[in-house]
Amino acid sequence: MNILILGSGGREHTLAWKLKQSPKLSNLFVAPGNAGTGEIANNVPIGVNDFQAIKKLVLSERINMVIVGPEDPLVNGIHDFFLNDSDIGKIPVIGPQKAAAELEGSKEFAKKFMMRHKIPTAAYESFTAETLLEGFAFLESLRPPYVLKADGLAAGKGVVILNDLQEAKKELQAMLIDAKFGNASATVVIEEFLSGTELSVFVLTDGTGYKILPTAKDYKRIGEGDKGLNTGGMGAISPVPFADTVFMEKIHERIVKPTVQGLKKDNLPYKGFIFIGLIKVGDEPKVIEYNVRLGDPETEVVIPRIQNDLLSLLKAVADQNLDKVELKIDERTAATVMLVSGGYPEAYEKGKKITGYEDIDDSLVFHAGTTDLESKTITNGGRVMAITSFGNDFKEALGKSYKNIEKIRFVGMNYRKDIGFDL
Ligand code: AMP
Ligand code: GLY
Repeated sequence: MNILILGSGGREHTLAWKLKQSPKLSNLFVAPGNAGTGEIANNVPIGVNDFQAIKKLVLSERINMVIVGPEDPLVNGIHDFFLNDSDIGKIPVIGPQKAAAELEGSKEFAKKFMMRHKIPTAAYESFTAETLLEGFAFLESLRPPYVLKADGLAAGKGVVILNDLQEAKKELQAMLIDAKFGNASATVVIEEFLSGTELSVFVLTDGTGYKILPTAKDYKRIGEGDKGLNTGGMGAISPVPFADTVFMEKIHERIVKPTVQGLKKDNLPYKGFIFIGLIKVGDEPKVIEYNVRLGDPETEVVIPRIQNDLLSLLKAVADQNLDKVELKIDERTAATVMLVSGGYPEAYEKGKKITGYEDIDDSLVFHAGTTDLESKTITNGGRVMAITSFGNDFKEALGKSYKNIEKIRFVGMNYRKDIGFDL
């Protein structure tokens, strides 16, 4: 089979690395890809939202399946674009159709979905410019901290948590009246603050059948001890040690099953990955958010633990016979540490030469923000590379990653030295 992966991060390099191991693979394309995907597949300089160019590529390279990495093209309806075009309508796309992608595209949609299907989540109300005063009154009725969420996609910045009531009101006004996040904050969800430990569960579904993939925990803040600004993710561990059998059974029965059944009941076609962000409150799992894709850097620890042939697994999703597949998971722990550009997540420079990563043999090096310049690999983004290792526990896995990171150099390189500190 010829496969096209859309995206350019560590997630897409990991998917490419895994697909390369498939005996069913003929040619692999990544659009636009990075220096890492360029080493093992054909990079094509096409943006993930350029649907016409993607169609052309799919036809000229006889692509048999498209795997969508990031949420943007899904929320923009790439799956529907394929289905509605007779030239490419039969080519499977891994990723939900637009209507179901609203689970990530709209926080209010996701909250309503959870309420309808009795999936445990924080209590909430949503507000628009017209109901600003009701929003103030609702904030007054809550105890701090106050959780405000822009309804739409805001590049991971749309959630604001504040301790002070006056600041929370100001923030609500900025979002609704001053369009702080543009159209994404035309509606704002205000919800109950949940206190607990976060983890993520990944599900692969064909719309009816589903497989629960390994759990993972990511480290979002730039600074050690979970301090400082939010990033796309500075590291991840899988499995999450505190997600024992009893807790996983609760997640399965109360969250995963009603989610997949709810999608079906609501006639929301879904073939792809569901990323469920959870928080463990006491002993109970509650949903913080849905994403309609894999996470990054969670992919860098979840996918390497899957022992099945990924192409067969995704083919089973396309053919809707996932129920017939037996999932095999590596029992070991995988951990990844993200190397980032100096200054990230604020302004940073690109174009720094990266050395030493070729000499690593007992860790997996997944490129994120990298590109080639005159046969050298240079930095091309805030998150540059994820170094993944296996171990009998997360400490052993992290030890390998940290040892190998010492071989890698680029000007301004930064990373968190405390991944897993809270476990
Ligand atoms: P989200 O973009 O929905 O993942 O939210 C970003 C982060 O905000 C989450 O990873 C949590 O750390 C935090 N968060 C979101 N909702 C809540 C909530 N209801 N209570 C406490 N923390 C939350
Ligand atoms: N690591 C979080 C995300 O991919 O959204």
